[in-house]
Amino acid sequence: MRTQVGIVGAGPAGLMLSHLLHLAGIRSIIVENRSRAYCEARVRAGLMEHWVSELLVEAGVGERMKREGMVHDGIFIAFNGQAHYLNFKKLIGKHVVIYDQKEVVTDLIARRLADGGEIHFEVADTSVHDFTTDRPKIRFRANGELNEIACDFIAGCDGFHGISRPSFPAGTLQGYDRVYPFGWLGILSESPPPEKELIYAYHEKGFALYSMRGPNLSRLYIQCAPDENIDEWPDARIWEQLHLRLGGVRKLTEGKILQKGVTPMRSYVTEPMQHGRLFIAGDAAHIVPPTGAKGMNLAMADVRVLARAFESFYRSRNSEPLANYSKTCLRRVWKGQRFSWWMTQMLHRFNYENDFDMKRQIAEIDYVTTSEVAAKSLAENYAGLPMG
Ligand code: DHB
Repeated sequence: MRTQVGIVGAGPAGLMLSHLLHLAGIRSIIVENRSRAYCEARVRAGLMEHWVSELLVEAGVGERMKREGMVHDGIFIAFNGQAHYLNFKKLIGKHVVIYDQKEVVTDLIARRLADGGEIHFEVADTSVHDFTTDRPKIRFRANGELNEIACDFIAGCDGFHGISRPSFPAGTLQGYDRVYPFGWLGILSESPPPEKELIYAYHEKGFALYSMRGPNLSRLYIQCAPDENIDEWPDARIWEQLHLRLGGVRKLTEGKILQKGVTPMRSYVTEPMQHGRLFIAGDAAHIVPPTGAKGMNLAMADVRVLARAFESFYRSRNSEPLANYSKTCLRRVWKGQRFSWWMTQMLHRFNYENDFDMKRQIAEIDYVTTSEVAAKSLAENYAGLPMG
């Protein structure tokens, strides 16, 4: 097999990269160790920055999102028994769109296959080779047989636990991370959400987030222990905590819990995001705690930069944008990290040794929900900083 860009991973980053390259007349092949059904069914954060929703439309893959996605003009932040509305539309003239990541993946897979794209699902033993030469290779096993893709470049879009990042030679990467002393218990419930838009709730028993996937489908999250045992959360306890943490600001209707799982909370960045002809994008290079849902948005920003850089290379043999890929992406990545950390530390309950920190934290929420200047900063980061 021979292609221009070999892509590891059929998540939002790998698929969008492949699609953008196709629009620019550049060939790619994707390998993915999971099945197509698995990729299309995995519930993940569902919040798109304004520009990402526009990118989907511009790239011709936004039709279903326009019909089924929910445009949200702002968010609620609840604390001390009151819900405060931050109106992004008024503050900064932007909105966000609620559309689950698995729907983005479903739409992109369908589109790549319709355009004749090559995606190998359920491959095993994927490895990347020779990326310090100009003939890198991806090897993998499919149906028991060894295969090799000879490519010009490799894009590692295979997530935090993928093979791409660990394939960098020893000593070429530096990792920066922070682990938080809590996790999120996420549930999907057949019930109407308590509001038309999201509620981020700070409560002395811990943070809770009230999100949604449809008029009768709620996506709800509760701050829990990082190593929480899901068996200790029978449905009745989940509802009790959700009612409590909503702090009486809205009425919450219970429904059948369709899914539950624990999300770990970690910030991680690796630098640089490139070695030779191997480029990493999205979760393969950086992960954020879920507060503010920056994960997929940062991945989309990476692949937009990468697709344009490949375009410059193939159109005009200009390799400067490729050489600058890591530097260009990391500026935005670190701002996304800062914002995700900031939202997380502002809204979660910590076991503070000193009540000073708790009082300071509440003052911060009070400030953000009453100062237009502070609210604008939150809104600008939440709805997505401008793409350079
Ligand atoms: C969702 C998840 C988030 O982490 C967030 O900040 C907002 C929304 C969601 O899954 O809907």
